[in-house]
Amino acid sequence: MTDHSADPDTVLFQRYRDPGFARPAQWNATLDVLMAHRSVRRFTDAPVSDETLATLVAAAQSASTSSNLQLWSVVAVRDPARKARLAGFCGNQRHIVEAPLFLVWLADFARLRQLAEDHGKPLDGQDFLEAGVLGCVDAALAAQNAVVAAESLGLGTVYIGAIRNRPEDVVHELALPRYAMPVFGMCVGRPDPSLSFDVKPRLPQRAVLHHETYDLPAQREEVARYEERVNAFYGEQAMAESWVARVLARMASGQSLTGRHRLREAWHNQGYELK
Ligand SMILES: Cc1cc2nc3c(=O)[nH]c(=O)nc-3n(C[C@H](O)[C@H](O)[C@H](O)COP(=O)(O)O)c2cc1C
Repeated sequence: MTDHSADPDTVLFQRYRDPGFARPAQWNATLDVLMAHRSVRRFTDAPVSDETLATLVAAAQSASTSSNLQLWSVVAVRDPARKARLAGFCGNQRHIVEAPLFLVWLADFARLRQLAEDHGKPLDGQDFLEAGVLGCVDAALAAQNAVVAAESLGLGTVYIGAIRNRPEDVVHELALPRYAMPVFGMCVGRPDPSLSFDVKPRLPQRAVLHHETYDLPAQREEVARYEERVNAFYGEQAMAESWVARVLARMASGQSLTGRHRLREAWHNQGYELK
């Protein structure tokens, strides 16, 4: 793929707000899509067709998957009443109701359990924490491929981690079998054209990219630099708080996890021992 429309300097400035970021030697349309990502929380009521859904799932299934185990599934929800109930489980986030399509991504050992039972084989490996990690990693890689595919088609998305606030209610609502565990939701739809959705700057690469060995002290300066840059973004979006204040408040206590402090118990209830 060689054609592209965006100017790399502009795209990368939006991503980092760092005027010194070196112009890349190579660029293409795939990078355009990846770098332009922003979460979308306002949608038109234009439906997402079954054909488009199939394309998104094909993109998701094209992601790598540990040992080709394919330990994820996704439930597509369009029914307004069901979306409203799910939104209620997720802190009443209105974009879940507004989006024409809501996807619930699952770490899913139900299929493998059934296979083992049908073949009279043990599946004791599923009793370990590794099983939960495998399912979550597989689900995340698949979902992110779907995000990129959706954005390449002009659709907008936002992940919904709040699906983990009340996992048992989600399990019941979606009639999930034992061993199928909600990891995150995802709103999908046409972005509302009357609103602009800006690219949110990220930490400087020097904070996240290490060469050969890890350097923690050097990150103080990079975080301080980011705080300045992202505050300019928050100001433009009429959002008051600083990034530092946000992240520290978000992870301050078990209570600030909005129900997710009991996630281990919810996973246990779905048949994961997480030893
Ligand atoms: C796993 C995951 C869960 C998320 N959960 C929510 C959520 O419940 N509600 C929401 O509005 N945004 C949610 N987000 C979106 C993040 O807030 C967003 O990706 C982040 O602020 C960066 O902004 P950007 O995606 O526009 O670059 C989630 C993102 C991820 C990756």
